[in-house]
Amino acid sequence: MTLSTQAGGAAVRPLGVLAALPQELGDLIAAMQAESGVVTRTFGRRDYHLGTVHGAPCVVTLARVGKVAAAATASALIHAFDVQAIVFTGVAGGVGENVHVGDVVVGETLLQHDMNCEPIFPRHEIPLLGRARFDADRALAQALATAAERFVAEEGAALAAQFGGALPRLASVAPRVHRGLVISGDQFVASAAAVGVLRALLPDALAVEMEGAAIAQVCYEYGVPCAIVRTISDTADEHASASFSSFLTDIAGTYSTGILKRFLASYR
Ligand code: ADE
Repeated sequence: MTLSTQAGGAAVRPLGVLAALPQELGDLIAAMQAESGVVTRTFGRRDYHLGTVHGAPCVVTLARVGKVAAAATASALIHAFDVQAIVFTGVAGGVGENVHVGDVVVGETLLQHDMNCEPIFPRHEIPLLGRARFDADRALAQALATAAERFVAEEGAALAAQFGGALPRLASVAPRVHRGLVISGDQFVASAAAVGVLRALLPDALAVEMEGAAIAQVCYEYGVPCAIVRTISDTADEHASASFSSFLTDIAGTYSTGILKRFLASYR
């Protein structure tokens, strides 16, 4: 399936863009509708939206929540829609010491923190793949980080004005863009004790979420580049549920819209 053709007639494979929940996609589907119109294909109980957005041919969909949902959706993007790469956007819990609500984390490496086949395989290793850590595509991760840095620099003051009530820190400290290890598991992490366990096992982890490392494993297995960008909605402690819910409702879409707009406009 091809979405468009270049001037010379060569087919352009689309970029797959996904999030777990609709709020995490921001205005992406509306922007696609305005730019090229949207063709929607329903497959495996998911709607795949095909079109061009910010100049980039894309297939946009929702994975829903968790590693199985994410892996199934990544596989469909690769096999039914022939995407050239996959980018995942959404929110995460901050677990790194200096990672705060409102910061952005770009995953350079992804790991499934709930994979444990000890003593048969080392902790976190995916059996028979011989690895626990999966790298994001360096160029895509760099482009996402650049887009996030530009978003924060250009819209930081507006973010503080709009969301300073919920996030007072924004009034005095600009959001930071971090890069490094993002960990995924089929758990919403919501206690300081659970964060302590994750930090003890994985001291370099910056953020925890529920899909990224599953996408990265599927992309590794099929040789498809991928990258993950996450805005920090909570710090995975006892306040996580309330912080996550209000951030998702009020703020997540603004970050995704601002980051994806800049990323897609630069994507060639
Ligand atoms: N996504 C956002 N916050 C999260 C948390 N605390 N645990 C897992 N996934 C999350």
